[in-house]
Amino acid sequence: MDVSRDAAGFSAITDAARRSGRAMGLVPTMGALHQGHDALISRARDRGGFVAVSIFVNPMQFSDADDLAAYPRDEAADLARCERLGVDAVWSPSVEQVYPPGVDLPAPDPGSIGSTFEGASRPGHFPGVLMVVHRLLSVTGPTSAYLGQKDAQQLFLVRRMVAREQLAAEIVACPTVREADGLAVASRNRNLTPAEREQAPSLFLGLSEAAAAARGGEPVAAVLIATIAREVGAAGLARLDYAAIVDEATFEPLTTVDRPARAIVAARFSEVRLIDNLLLPGPAA
Ligand code: PAF
Repeated sequence: MDVSRDAAGFSAITDAARRSGRAMGLVPTMGALHQGHDALISRARDRGGFVAVSIFVNPMQFSDADDLAAYPRDEAADLARCERLGVDAVWSPSVEQVYPPGVDLPAPDPGSIGSTFEGASRPGHFPGVLMVVHRLLSVTGPTSAYLGQKDAQQLFLVRRMVAREQLAAEIVACPTVREADGLAVASRNRNLTPAEREQAPSLFLGLSEAAAAARGGEPVAAVLIATIAREVGAAGLARLDYAAIVDEATFEPLTTVDRPARAIVAARFSEVRLIDNLLLPGPAA
């Protein structure tokens, strides 16, 4: 497995693999790799071709310096994990390699959806995400990039950026990986206290109840949202940030579930912010 620090070195490796006719899969990550990343890497592997992983805690997508400082980092474990999973090349760059001083990199606009939900709670988050994903795609030149469904708003905005800018990469969405109790696997979970960890599945419980109500024919978004809020509220250590039902095609909030829709939720357990979502089923026939 090749490990590169600089952009030119990594591009040379991916260019050579592409020239040999191999498909190129990129798994962009911020490190602290877990089973969710394993699933993305396996999906890329299953497609055959060359598998590249980027490990970069992107300062541009953090609006809070404490949050950035607290983000878990363990490069040695990440590299060992990538090696074990059969990754071909890792790019683990410095901030200067991703954002070379004096260079004006493309700064794709997330538009109005970028200021809602995650964007409202974390100003500057999505401009930072789109900028780094654009940069990672341009340095790597992948045929496909693999992103998790857990970050549904990120996935929506990255897909839209790729379509609008006519970038060559296909964005492959991979299902959320969950712990046995339903908690979505996330790097931030390791910062939960044992008591918070016990209550953290309340997000998934709320979403699951809302999905069951939708399946039962409940079309009123406010009722589904109240269901999610009730479950999260029942977890005494959680503070609900938002719960909403959004149009799967536009990420706009819905008041009535009359088209493919996704329930989304975010809550804070002291300093740890968790997000989750579920695609709502249509009413059972
Ligand atoms: O989902 C993440 O881990 C990050 O937002 C990403 C896509 C790697 C960009 O920094």
